[in-house]
Amino acid sequence: MPSAKLSHPTPVFFFSHGSTMMLGEDSEPAAFWKQAGNEALRRGVKSIVMMGAHWECVGDKIQVAMSPSPGKNPVAYVKRERYENFKLVPDLPMGERVLEMLRKGGFNAEPNHKFNFIHDSFLLLIRMFAERGSNIPTVLVSANSRFDPHFHAKIGVVLRPLRYENVLLIGSGGAVHNLYRNHWMQMVLYRDNFAMPQPPGEFALEFRQAVEDAITMNSGPALRRAVTRLMKHPRYREAHGTDEHFIPMCFIAGAAGDKADEGTKNVMTAECWELVAMANTQFQLGEWV
Ligand SMILES: [Fe+2]
Repeated sequence: MPSAKLSHPTPVFFFSHGSTMMLGEDSEPAAFWKQAGNEALRRGVKSIVMMGAHWECVGDKIQVAMSPSPGKNPVAYVKRERYENFKLVPDLPMGERVLEMLRKGGFNAEPNHKFNFIHDSFLLLIRMFAERGSNIPTVLVSANSRFDPHFHAKIGVVLRPLRYENVLLIGSGGAVHNLYRNHWMQMVLYRDNFAMPQPPGEFALEFRQAVEDAITMNSGPALRRAVTRLMKHPRYREAHGTDEHFIPMCFIAGAAGDKADEGTKNVMTAECWELVAMANTQFQLGEWV
């Protein structure tokens, strides 16, 4: 049952979740995730709908996580006690609504009754809510393995009306995220994910700037065009050796890029670099009112 409409839509977030060690080590993004969680609780946000980077479906399919008691996939480089007791709260009624909206929007969407959460989602939920001993029920939506930017922007378009129902839409991916270009030695040998024995390569700096410009200097439909066009940026393939950590940004651009979003403030809120080449840049699109 749809709830009362807000006159102003909830903001939308793009979180660059980084390596698994972002769960164990404190950072500027982690402080921002907590702040976003606090704000969501304070505002009585009723549900989170998230597209992560670690789940995609083949063919033309997308899925919605509908397990009543999802487990958590283990997280490398993090002690189990950091995450094993955090209780995941799936929002099955909202999951049904999301499925209905997606199908009405023309997507081949189906429930997945067995899907376990992966760290791209629960790392953020823990950072947002664990210290408060709280949580907000969450729906996970898969990506599609064809990684078509416009397809994923359209998922955001179709789910955008939920922003008027006090639902928070989150994309969890990465601004610059190419595991093949990361420098792993400091993390593997010394558990130091923030070591920067050398500066990031030019490709990483250039693409990270292009992401910031695309999101913060555009709004409305221009935002959708700017973000989806990033896949044609000359440094894209170096910044994203594979597409899955970029594509949730297209979902977010769809959700925050309606004509009605024209003129809204989209801001970069926090950032850190990891493993020399990975830019964990955080964005808030739209404002809490
Ligand atoms: Fe990831």
